[in-house]
Amino acid sequence: MLLNLALLLSFASLIFADYARLDVNNTAFLFVDHQTGLFQLVEDYEQHNFKETILALGRTAKYFKTPAVLTTSFEQGPNGPMMPELKAMFPNASYIPRPGQINAWDNADFVAAVKATGKKQLVISGIVTDVCVTFCALSAKAAGYEVFVVTDASGTFRDDVRYASWDRMSQAGVQLLNWFAVAAELGRDWRRDMEGMGELFSSNIPRYEFLMDSFNAAKNGSSH
Ligand SMILES: *[C@@H]1O[C@H](CO)[C@@H](O)[C@H](O)[C@H]1NC(C)=O
Ligand SMILES: *[C@@H]1O[C@H](CO)[C@@H](O)[C@H](O)[C@H]1NC(C)=O
Ligand SMILES: *[C@@H]1O[C@H](CO)[C@@H](O)[C@H](O)[C@H]1NC(C)=O
Repeated sequence: MLLNLALLLSFASLIFADYARLDVNNTAFLFVDHQTGLFQLVEDYEQHNFKETILALGRTAKYFKTPAVLTTSFEQGPNGPMMPELKAMFPNASYIPRPGQINAWDNADFVAAVKATGKKQLVISGIVTDVCVTFCALSAKAAGYEVFVVTDASGTFRDDVRYASWDRMSQAGVQLLNWFAVAAELGRDWRRDMEGMGELFSSNIPRYEFLMDSFNAAKNGSSH
């Protein structure tokens, strides 16, 4: 009877998993291999939107003043340099060009840089999803971090490849979410900074700009 109860409870904890959400005080962003050569392999997102999404995620990290670690894979080879706009956004962040390791977590300098942030929740994005992102996410998870992979700031060859890697990561307990959800989950409450969040969203999402414009117009109208 007791054993049954214990079993039941352990099943219940599987079904009703805790909601582990991003905490702005405990989060670091890892940008893994957003390199100009690798970019050309991405087919599951339209190039222009994909690039804008990566920059929106970068601006989210800046807005919340969370630490970031940038890394590249074999950048003197065909993978190419890190996206210049992203690199320029984080002049003071740890930047680890890996000489050869495909899994960033196999590079001791990278792991040390992540550890030095002192944060336990890692927001990971990169190219390509199935290799650079998945390998790093699985290793970080195994090392005891809470891992959040940003789906729309990570790209790869085809939809089937992306779905297989999302499946692989989520089965290992990695959380998958889009950049907008990262920003909203970190923000938590509009009353913290209505202006700043509105600006972050409207400067990165054209439709959100319309939303803010209509809101401002209504607000102006009501004050006249
Ligand atoms: C983060 O830290 C600040 C300052 O200590 C605190 O006001 C805020 O509630 C914290 N946020 C969360 C989500 O714990
Ligand atoms: C980078 O660090 C320098 C020196 O501490 C500081 O003056 C500068 O404002 C920092 N830049 C950014 C973008 O944080
Ligand atoms: C609302 O008013 C502010 C200043 O009062 C102005 O800057 C803004 O452009 C106005 N917005 C609209 C949509 O009319």
